[in-house]
Amino acid sequence: MIEAVDQLEALRARVAAWKRDGLRVGLVPTMGNLHAGHHSLVHLARQHADRIVASVFVNPTQFGPNEDFARYPRTPEADVDGLCDAGCDVAWMPSVETMYPHGVDASVRVGVPGITEVLEGAHRPGHFDGVATVVARLFNQVSPDVAVFGRKDYQQLAVIRYLVRDMAFPLEVLAGETRREADGLAMSSRNQYLSAEERKLAPLLYQVLQGMRDAMASGAPRLQAEAGARARLLSAGFDVDYVVVREPGLDVPDPGPAAPGASLVALVAARLGRTRLIDNLEFRLDGVPA
Ligand code: PAF
Repeated sequence: MIEAVDQLEALRARVAAWKRDGLRVGLVPTMGNLHAGHHSLVHLARQHADRIVASVFVNPTQFGPNEDFARYPRTPEADVDGLCDAGCDVAWMPSVETMYPHGVDASVRVGVPGITEVLEGAHRPGHFDGVATVVARLFNQVSPDVAVFGRKDYQQLAVIRYLVRDMAFPLEVLAGETRREADGLAMSSRNQYLSAEERKLAPLLYQVLQGMRDAMASGAPRLQAEAGARARLLSAGFDVDYVVVREPGLDVPDPGPAAPGASLVALVAARLGRTRLIDNLEFRLDGVPA
């Protein structure tokens, strides 16, 4: 039976009781409007913890002024039902005032240097500081032994790992696989913004990632693989923020063909109409999945 909690004292009392009983606590941070991808993160958390808290909080500090904070889909009742079915014990659903007691503008911020400045960070200034700020708060509120994040947000996962190591949060970070629709489109709450026409085009994102992997596997220079992917997306009507191949830490590899055995990740962010979608594909050039 799941409990929906919106007061910090109640959350802390619940977690403290679990810890007194020697139970391991898992956290699955979310912004709600949950789908099978989120539920799979709860399933993964269950394999590594005895009790699971999923947070449902649309975090204002990670949205830019012209982004979709106001229209981000909010479906709290369905979220609680889905979390219950997925085996979650507590849905942590704080208000903005509870999360940011001094108000959003006067809140303490967590800044992560370096890795936040490229790709998503370059296109969404301040986004990752907002993510790091809320995730640090969630870690302090829940005190989890393990926290689960999706691989779909590749750069976010790297930022969280950096945050945890740098701030010595005493917890383990686990990565959940990206869940995809039958046509390859990565599951995302933002997919529902797509018109019927846009929804038909959207799987091309995953196809160009696979195309970049295949091109590099057959010896194509990185810059050629990236240019081919960009051209395919543009001619299908996408606005492309980036479509690139990077090393796992997001360093830029040589422009030419990659060495056999290299581990790489292809990343894309592109807009269809007003909807901005991201995806990525990790791969190794010896054909073994990364
Ligand atoms: O990935 C998300 O849904 C959000 O960025 C997160 C980690 C819940 C922080 O608000």
